[in-house]
Amino acid sequence: MDAIISLCKRRGFAFQSSEIYGGLGGFFDYGPLGCALKKNIKDFWWREMVQLRENVVGLDSSVIGGSKMWEASGHVAGFSDPMVDCRESGMRYRADQLFFSPVAISGKTICHLSILDSPQMEEDALAMARSLLKKRGESAAPDKLRLRPIAEATAEELRQIPSPATGTIGALTAPRAFNLMFRTSIGAVSDASATAYLRPETAQGIFVNFQNVLASSRLKLPFGIGQIGKAFRNEITPRNFLFRMREFEQMELEYFIDPDADWCRIHGEWVESRLAWYRSIGIGDKFLGKEVHAQEKLAHYARACTDITFRYPFGVCELEGIAARGDFDLRCHSAASGKALDYFDGDKHFMPHVIEPSAGVDRVFLAVLCAAYGEDEIGGERRTLLRLDPKIAPVKVAVLPLLKNRNDLLQLSREIFLKLRRRWNAVWDSSGAIGRRYRRMDEIGTPLAVTVDFESLENGSVTMRFRDSAEQVRLSIGELESAIGNLVDWK
Ligand code: GAP
Repeated sequence: MDAIISLCKRRGFAFQSSEIYGGLGGFFDYGPLGCALKKNIKDFWWREMVQLRENVVGLDSSVIGGSKMWEASGHVAGFSDPMVDCRESGMRYRADQLFFSPVAISGKTICHLSILDSPQMEEDALAMARSLLKKRGESAAPDKLRLRPIAEATAEELRQIPSPATGTIGALTAPRAFNLMFRTSIGAVSDASATAYLRPETAQGIFVNFQNVLASSRLKLPFGIGQIGKAFRNEITPRNFLFRMREFEQMELEYFIDPDADWCRIHGEWVESRLAWYRSIGIGDKFLGKEVHAQEKLAHYARACTDITFRYPFGVCELEGIAARGDFDLRCHSAASGKALDYFDGDKHFMPHVIEPSAGVDRVFLAVLCAAYGEDEIGGERRTLLRLDPKIAPVKVAVLPLLKNRNDLLQLSREIFLKLRRRWNAVWDSSGAIGRRYRRMDEIGTPLAVTVDFESLENGSVTMRFRDSAEQVRLSIGELESAIGNLVDWK
């Protein structure tokens, strides 16, 4: 993870937000290469989910919504995480990530505390507790070790639990609900009617526009409305770089279906279709997984949910959630607004149900980098490379004159570059030894490098080098565009 974060900063993929002021926790800015990669991911999602599906249309709704809308959706009352405070340091923790194991040491119960970001870390946490006991020369307890959520701690146990911030026993408060919505107010008067919220999901903009889209298009069930945009959550513990942020981006599709349709089958088909999409952007099966949510862990709106997971360096975590939301949202908005959000099918009218594949752009971005990151040796030289799928690589081709001090090489390479740049994101680079320039391109995942050398001046041919194998082929300048197009264009 450190290698990836450092590459992101060094090469301009992502920076800590407001870094010169000490950084703003949970916020990141995307640099020149980062915004190009992110745009490619979003464009490819849009193409596969909206453009290539006849029964899906797009939407771009407001980021800010009035309180009536967010009350109706259940977010004002229920969009919260359980939070625990450390009274001593003021640090806040998500209670569902805090686990304790009561252990008896020399007849006295003490509690060991662990923070778990993902269930897979449970074994590590238990191993830590065991080694703690071993250090203290205690042997009896390890096989009895069991991690319990802090929400289950009795008042007595809570008094025994150390704060993760200061280590002080008993400094933690009992869990309480913390609403994740960012509140703001609209206009100059700041009374209750001016209260508004930054959206914590793009989905609600789709539900409140359901009738507008239906009335203005000729859609018939089943149909979908897709949207890409920013979402904001005042996360208690933003962490793991781009994984859990306070401002992030979502790519969401609400797929409306007949309430009598076999929603289980349709839900399953979406899960498979989304897995195929991840494979198509170069994320291999060894990184991907599925996790079906237990009924008691479902969000307030969901009747079923399957996560697509990714094996990040810090654990297996959610990449995308695919929920069956029933008619929860349309029903809530219809009741609160007094507007009929019905679908008419001949003499039948009803509220459609919805299946929702919802992906986080930033989590996909991070997953793509993690899956592509590699280090190897080419011709006796170590290199770092990103084996990015050419479809989403931020730079598609580099044009390199073999030598810097030859005007004829510079001129011909500039001509080629200016032509290629009209179709693809291309760079021209003349500084440093050719091997170093190749490695600079490998490190940012550029799939192809075209080198203009002396033979180019004689017979109009160039070399094309492939990032992963470092192999080179010779081809004529006239063949270049179609050869590059075959390798990097979306089919
Ligand atoms: N409309 C449904 C919904 O918002 P969610 O599981 O809360 O469901 C969907 O979020 C996706 O948004 C997640 O799978 C994840 O990729 C992304 N996401 C959620 N919270 C995030 C955060 N704090 N930082 C980055 N991405 C986040």
